[in-house]
Amino acid sequence: MTHTISVIVGSLRAGSFARKIARNAIALMPDGFEANIVPIGELPLYNFDYDDPASPGTPTPAEYTRFRETIKASTGVLFVTPENNRTIPACLKNAVDIGSKPNSDVAWRGLPAGIISHSVGRMGGYSSQKNLRLALSYFDMPLPGQPEVFLGQSPTLLDDSGAFVDERTREFVRDYVARFAALVALTAERGRAA
Ligand SMILES: Cc1cc2nc3c(=O)[nH]c(=O)nc-3n(C[C@H](O)[C@H](O)[C@H](O)COP(=O)(O)O)c2cc1C
Repeated sequence: MTHTISVIVGSLRAGSFARKIARNAIALMPDGFEANIVPIGELPLYNFDYDDPASPGTPTPAEYTRFRETIKASTGVLFVTPENNRTIPACLKNAVDIGSKPNSDVAWRGLPAGIISHSVGRMGGYSSQKNLRLALSYFDMPLPGQPEVFLGQSPTLLDDSGAFVDERTREFVRDYVARFAALVALTAERGRAA
């Protein structure tokens, strides 16, 4: 069985360090795992009217449906995010909210998740990662407990081609990706929580 991992990057910036880190993580996925970045920049801002049967004049945007179907077809989701004003960037929160509705068919429910946060400073996006964990906590998503991956001073971790400069960073992320992949495989084996 091939596991399909949706990778969600919490930055829309062309030169995003988060996207470069995500590409490194994708390259470190073990055999049997296929991971792809799912774009979130085109998702309209969340508005419950789109999902509210009482508002027939505002049909669900095709972008929402496509995004939800992509997530639901995945066996795991890996978030790679920077921090904006001590929480997750708005584009990522928007994607989390879109995946959280409708209540009868929540795209995130039971899906194993991994989180890698980064910052250009020394804190590694600590607050962003903790806030993302909080936002996901309602969806019964299994997450690896340890290690937690906070990549500080991210510009120094990457070379001009976007690859990790230091072997220790690569091995740290490889180990995390392997633990996340094992959790995905275990969850798939047991059957995703209803
Ligand atoms: C609106 C805004 C708010 C930010 N707030 C934080 C913050 O709270 N903590 C932090 O470590 N960095 C903060 N930064 C710096 C970003 O982490 C930095 O721009 C980073 O490169 C963005 O990630 P990216 O390279 O993946 O786009 C902020 C940047 C912006 C534009």
